[in-house]
Amino acid sequence: MLILANVEATNGIKVSAKLLENELPILDALVEGISIVERDPKVRSVGYGGWPNMIGEMEFDAAVMDGTSRQIGAVGALQDSLSAVKVAREVMLRLPHVVLTSAGASRFAKECGFEPEAVLMPDSKRVWRNKIEKTVAPNLIDQFPNIPLAPLSNLITDPERVRDTTVFLGKDDKGDIAVCTSTSGWAWKYPGRLGDSPIPGAGFYADSRYGAAACTHTGEMTMRTSTARCIILAMQLGRSLEDAIKLAIEDLALLKGGFLGGVVIHAMDANENYQVINFNCSETIRYWVWRDGMRTPEQKIAEKHTF
Ligand code: GLY
Repeated sequence: MLILANVEATNGIKVSAKLLENELPILDALVEGISIVERDPKVRSVGYGGWPNMIGEMEFDAAVMDGTSRQIGAVGALQDSLSAVKVAREVMLRLPHVVLTSAGASRFAKECGFEPEAVLMPDSKRVWRNKIEKTVAPNLIDQFPNIPLAPLSNLITDPERVRDTTVFLGKDDKGDIAVCTSTSGWAWKYPGRLGDSPIPGAGFYADSRYGAAACTHTGEMTMRTSTARCIILAMQLGRSLEDAIKLAIEDLALLKGGFLGGVVIHAMDANENYQVINFNCSETIRYWVWRDGMRTPEQKIAEKHTF
């Protein structure tokens, strides 16, 4: 048994590990761990602690993938529930669809019993409002947000607000592999923007025969190269985990134009080998790993690749 998760998982991974030890299926164990992260105000890139879009609204992206059936459920730009990963699981369990977005996702969440709740943390609202007052021209501030928003899209390069996500991947003692993601997306994003976290093959992929992969940071890159699927397909074609990740990174490094930044790849193979690679992020990237027999998860530093 193995669980790999990024540093945002600090409180959630312990819960997932305990549930896995108690023989909960891997996907359900990961969902419970992410649900803790989504309600942790200290995690500033996921759920309640996350940042709103350009007009001060929270929009959550999340996904689950069962690597044995390869069933997927995902939500994008979900507005009024913090339980994004659980709503994503309901999409997988109850609907013939894979991804629901915005108003449809909110409607479905309510049908499933997730009542609308307060999702914008007062501190996030304060920081957002300060940012808008410093950025929007004084002659337009009274009309905000009914002004053209595209000229404000450089707000997303705010260096103090990370483009993070929480990703959990793992394998249970039956050999089933799963991956789950959740994020509030990029701070100050254009309303309706989806990141890679709800996009199958970009921000996540799992296949119990070969392994699982999930990405954090610049979704605008991994959506262009289908990074997570690229890694699993390379392993299917016989590459080792290390070579499969190398291939995905070489492909990311060849992107031209558009928004380019750092990407962190979390990946494991079906033999429970794992690797976490920091591609072009300037900061130190940490992650968590837990294996059966370990009392608590261990924190490690991701290996750095710079092109
Ligand atoms: N990887 C997170 C995002 O792009 O929203």
